[in-house]
Amino acid sequence: MRFVVTPWEVKGEVDYERLIKEFGVEKIDDKILKLFKKYAGELHPYLKRRLFFSHRDLDWLFREYEKGNKFYLYTGRGPSSYTHIGHLVPWIFTKWLQEKFKAKLLFQITDDEKFLFKRELSLEDVKKFAYDNILDIIALGFDRKRTEIFLNTEYSKTLYPLAIKVAKKITFSTAKAVFGFKNDSNIGEIFFTSMQSVPAFLESVRAGKNIPCLIPYAIDQDAHFRVCRDVLPKLGYYKPASIHSKFIPGLGKGGKMSASEPDTAIFVTDAPIEVERKILKAFTGGRDTLKEQKRLGGKPKICTVFAYYSLFETDDKKVQELEKKCKCGEIFCKECKRILIDIINKFLKKHQEKREKAKSKVEKFIVKD
Ligand code: TRP
Repeated sequence: MRFVVTPWEVKGEVDYERLIKEFGVEKIDDKILKLFKKYAGELHPYLKRRLFFSHRDLDWLFREYEKGNKFYLYTGRGPSSYTHIGHLVPWIFTKWLQEKFKAKLLFQITDDEKFLFKRELSLEDVKKFAYDNILDIIALGFDRKRTEIFLNTEYSKTLYPLAIKVAKKITFSTAKAVFGFKNDSNIGEIFFTSMQSVPAFLESVRAGKNIPCLIPYAIDQDAHFRVCRDVLPKLGYYKPASIHSKFIPGLGKGGKMSASEPDTAIFVTDAPIEVERKILKAFTGGRDTLKEQKRLGGKPKICTVFAYYSLFETDDKKVQELEKKCKCGEIFCKECKRILIDIINKFLKKHQEKREKAKSKVEKFIVKD
């Protein structure tokens, strides 16, 4: 089946090798991992496991870093739903980058985008999701002194004059070719990508000199940043470097975790019993009968339970052991599900506590104008 990867739609079984070629990004290879290890002191499990699988200009970024030209981080969230655990994964990695490189982070909340692109959502809806999502972002432990979070609609005095500079360099035919707009697309949609470009050079504007920027994102966002990289040099700024993650699967068969399929998504506020119910129903790589499972072993590669296990269990040895046991038919799905339920519930218990505490910190993280 043909797959689709755009900022608005991810469908089918994604062939990442092919995406690398089609999008013109570079694979994260041993050379890049060595650089990470050199400068960060260690490798995050998501790098080792190639969840982050491709990049642009990381070699340049590290060369600048070596020269003492430090970079800042930029990432974002489109607030179209409450947060599920798939959303947390790139943010967890961004937090690690911030910690290791003592980098400033701009976190853009695109409430404008979700209002424009989602017919069913009002401005009140996206704002409600935005402020709820921000609790999860803060709960992950970003450094308050190095992090700024903003909603596009509440930071528009700063963003808008810069967005129109970007917009002036993008023709309608480029926007159509890259994003597939049609005659019935609303005109806000067509303008939106210029808002997503701004944080990639905002720190340079503020500093009055060019500062390298690194953007971690799930690869579906690539179209925005291809355009951004074309435009920024025309305005006198660096092209941003970037690092891209694969999609986090849902608990059903195929597809990424999606808030619109609540039974295959674990929300950060789910009670332990909900988590248990959803994971017990999850799609696994197990065989039809126990006998077959013993004889042939399971298929961790296609198993959603194993996928989540490897995202939330940071001990590499444990992950490798479970994979081996599964392949050899020494462990059954029910047991793995129990292990995962336990890990996720422990994680969520802590997260929910931190989420409560985050409520009093929101104003300290947010910038408005
Ligand atoms: N458009 C993104 C979304 O729908 C949100 C976003 C804005 C973003 N800026 C970003 C994501 C930078 C990653 C990096 O979720």
